[in-house]
Amino acid sequence: MLLLEAMDSLLPSLIKRQLDSKRLGKPIHHYVRLGSTNDIADQLASAGAPEGTMVVTEHQTHGRGRLGRSWFSQKGKDLCFSLVLRPDVPPCNLSCLSLILGIAVGDAIEKISGLKPDLKWPNDLLINGKKCCGILSEVRTELGEVKYLIVGIGINVNAKVVSTGLSMTASTLFQQTGRQISRSQLLVEILNCFEPFYFEFLDQKIKPLLDLWVKKSSYAEDRWVLVKQIDRSFQGITQGLSKHGALLVKRGEGWVEEVLAGDIIEWDKKVTSS
Ligand code: BTN
Repeated sequence: MLLLEAMDSLLPSLIKRQLDSKRLGKPIHHYVRLGSTNDIADQLASAGAPEGTMVVTEHQTHGRGRLGRSWFSQKGKDLCFSLVLRPDVPPCNLSCLSLILGIAVGDAIEKISGLKPDLKWPNDLLINGKKCCGILSEVRTELGEVKYLIVGIGINVNAKVVSTGLSMTASTLFQQTGRQISRSQLLVEILNCFEPFYFEFLDQKIKPLLDLWVKKSSYAEDRWVLVKQIDRSFQGITQGLSKHGALLVKRGEGWVEEVLAGDIIEWDKKVTSS
């Protein structure tokens, strides 16, 4: 086993030493193996765990993705963790949170690996067109009131190959750089990058963050996309984000849809402005 692999555990003692955050990653619950970090974080949150509580594992066996999909990760190779958040903001702003988290994860990946991920609405990070990271944000409400949110992040880090059937669409940081990346450093950097953004979000300074997301995403503007939702699909040209983080897609003259849920797929070619 290479030295970095041997040393690259996600033990709380290792993480805490490097962490600059005030709230995020406090406390840390570390598991050698579990089903889904989102599920454990949810249990802890419903029992009263404070904002910032983090659940991280060396091996996630039943990871969940968006829209009921599975999320595959490899033991000791990938990064899977979840945070408990208790933001006191209007519920209509919550969908911006995973976009903002995506910016922070992208910045952290860039700092640690030198790669510059692209952001694909709503929650994917792509490198050279292949998905390296996904974010699953789950809101728990009681009597119509937001109680807490679990945000789960999965990053394909050091595996030499991705899971069967995913090689056309997914990749790992190792495949993209040709070198091992320290998962603990990446995790620390994500928390350090996300916290200042999160505090701006809590202060409702959301517009500059959404503008930053648009700047960092090649999908945000002037891109032909196919929008796939549970009950319908349509094509259009992206036009940026609404103030609540919905993707604006132009379907015809004067007809712009606010897309709140679903997936987008690149359609044909990038539109060139005349
Ligand atoms: C997606 O792209 O569909 C979102 C994937 C989110 C995966 C992460 S891994 C950590 C956390 N625990 C889960 O079960 N899912 C999220």
